[in-house]
Amino acid sequence: MGKNNKYILVTGGAGYIGSHTVVSLISRGFTPIIIDDFRNSNKDVIDRLSIITQKHIYYFNAACQDKKRLKGILSQFPVEGVIHFAADKAVGESVVNPLKYFNNNLSSLVTILELIQEFNIPRFVFSSSCTVYGDPKQIPVKENDPTSYNSPYGYTKLVSEEIIKQFIESKPDIQATILRYFNPIGAHESGMIGEEPQGIPNNLLPYITQTAFGIREKLTVYGNDYDTVDGTCVRDYIHVEDLAEAHVVALENIKKSENNPTIYNIGTGKGTSVFEMIQYFNEISGKKLPYEIGSRRAGDVPEIFADVEKATRELKWEAKKSIKEAISSAWKFEQYIRNKRK
Ligand code: WQD
Repeated sequence: MGKNNKYILVTGGAGYIGSHTVVSLISRGFTPIIIDDFRNSNKDVIDRLSIITQKHIYYFNAACQDKKRLKGILSQFPVEGVIHFAADKAVGESVVNPLKYFNNNLSSLVTILELIQEFNIPRFVFSSSCTVYGDPKQIPVKENDPTSYNSPYGYTKLVSEEIIKQFIESKPDIQATILRYFNPIGAHESGMIGEEPQGIPNNLLPYITQTAFGIREKLTVYGNDYDTVDGTCVRDYIHVEDLAEAHVVALENIKKSENNPTIYNIGTGKGTSVFEMIQYFNEISGKKLPYEIGSRRAGDVPEIFADVEKATRELKWEAKKSIKEAISSAWKFEQYIRNKRK
């Protein structure tokens, strides 16, 4: 796929992973069109994106379910690909309010697919999650391992994958790629965009950086009695810039394939424990993070990391940045955003 001036619709483009993907798309010659209703992101991300890329950023304040609005946008731009990020993603909230997740995550996807069909858009990249492996029997996990779910959120990702599969069966000319992300962390090297959770962070690294900044009193480590290297849970943390690049590479490399949609694990292939994360953070920041050991968090799997052989072989993509670079960029971003919001 040639690049210059190819318009790519990016739903959720102001969000954490979406915004980094916008930077990546622009740096590789694409023109992203952002659709975001800023329910879980800040409008000033758009200004920051334009400073980082030195480009005009096309964006529309619209919900993905607003089909009429999206039709108007797609009539304006000859879009050649869609990357669909927009979704709710808080596991705990999904347990309390499953219908919110079924409504938003599934109806947004169906609306986007209807538009892809109506406008004959040939390429589609979907944000999925390693959560679809549930509690894996074998690690590292491979793309054809059994899938499962631990929460309504996880269920929406599993159902979304199935919706895409069945839709593509009816439209084999549309090529779809499903990326199963492991644990994205870190921020853009400029320190100007990153993860900005609203309220108390659910995820580990934002909790660590907020604690170090003095916003939270201490980190609670959810269990130290797992059967892992040091008793704490092990995850595959991937730098968000590497993850963003994976989307662009997936878009560039999408070929007509017998396996449509194609599914890829996007991780580093390495596991890191919670204690190791704390230790790296202390080394990088020069701080001593206050923490306590708490009880296990419901739904946590002890250990998961990716088998990334398929992405390496077929997409010629692999994660390049180290976990220390990721932690260091997250810390830089925490300081930037706190000073900005003062
Ligand atoms: C990482 C580790 C916690 C917070 C979640 C979703 C998953 C995917 C990525 C989107 C775990 C421990 C955390 C804290 C802790 N999202 N932890 N204290 O749970 O692996 O994955 O985000 O698709 O679907 O479930 O990520 O960052 O919440 O936790 O000890 O305050 O840190 O127990 O071992 P998780 P996380």
